[in-house]
Amino acid sequence: MNAPAQILKDSHASPAERLWSLAADDMASVDALILDRMQSPVGLIPNLAQHLVGAGGKRLRPLLTVATSLMCGYDGDAHHKLAASVEFIHSATLLHDDVVDESELRRGKKPANLIWGNSASILVGDFLFARAFNLMVETGSMEALGILSNASSVIAEGEVQQLAALRDVKMDETAYMEVISAKTAALFAAATEVSPVIAGRPMAERTALRDYGLKLGLAFQLVDDALDYGGFESALGKSVGDDFREGKMTLPVIRAVEAANKEDAAFWHRVIVDRNQSDMDFETAISLLRKTGALDSTMDLARQYAREAREALSIFEASAWRETLEDLADYVVERIN
Ligand code: IPE
Ligand code: IPE
Ligand code: MG
Ligand code: MG
Repeated sequence: MNAPAQILKDSHASPAERLWSLAADDMASVDALILDRMQSPVGLIPNLAQHLVGAGGKRLRPLLTVATSLMCGYDGDAHHKLAASVEFIHSATLLHDDVVDESELRRGKKPANLIWGNSASILVGDFLFARAFNLMVETGSMEALGILSNASSVIAEGEVQQLAALRDVKMDETAYMEVISAKTAALFAAATEVSPVIAGRPMAERTALRDYGLKLGLAFQLVDDALDYGGFESALGKSVGDDFREGKMTLPVIRAVEAANKEDAAFWHRVIVDRNQSDMDFETAISLLRKTGALDSTMDLARQYAREAREALSIFEASAWRETLEDLADYVVERIN
């Protein structure tokens, strides 16, 4: 039995691994395209890009583009270009994000900006963004270009909205949902919506796949925000506690603040608004999140979006693609990295 077939039979393989093995040849083409298109005669560009890209990452977004394209019966090669483009947009946002968030760990390594400096990271991020657009144009699909360029501006809006709300202890759930829809779910939605478009499928499938990506992206970011308090650095490959240190209002904190008594409210004000934090404060924050059930309720909301993502696929006929994409929704909630 060859390796992919073994993975398919292996009930312990995660849905992401199963999807990967179903789409192994296509994903190898996408990886080759990514490597090829991050080259440049300006040596700093491939060096810095390779540091991030070579560290892996889950490649979840390009996997979604490839898997949904194949589920839609697409048989050209534009899906490889769009998948690479989606990963380039994601990589660009990570390079910029680590500057903005002053992160100390990304994909288990020192972030590029701590090696080459903030300016280099920002400029190479811009290069990757631009390369993403080159790839989209090469597909000749104005609709796909429209979807992904729209997602790109929405991501930037979400990041700016989040920046403007930093240390605002009054930020509410509606504003939080707007931020995560924009900064994270928009790219997941675009990654899955382009597939029925290039495959020439009817509007109902386009709406369904956009909805699937959007809900999956919301669940993904909710879990990410819970893991920033409840996860393990070694599994995540990034530091925990970054959101807390920055004074970022994520859903766990928003819900804990809502439930706070007078003393706890004073704690949140000190650590978020004043950003006056000492050694034990992160531990205290975690215990308040647990006491108020804020982490559990964040995970509950993630589960609800995962269910809605799963349901969005119901218009497609049964196939290994559909089943594995459905399972991926649950996996995103159970993930530890
Ligand atoms: C990190 O995304 C950024 C978020 C939206 C939370 P991933 O967790 O998909 O990052 P990689 O690509 O696997 O490193
Ligand atoms: C990642 O966001 C960047 C975008 C989604 C644009 P976060 O800052 O929330 O994610 P991590 O925790 O650094 O990966
Ligand atoms: Mg960030
Ligand atoms: Mg960050």
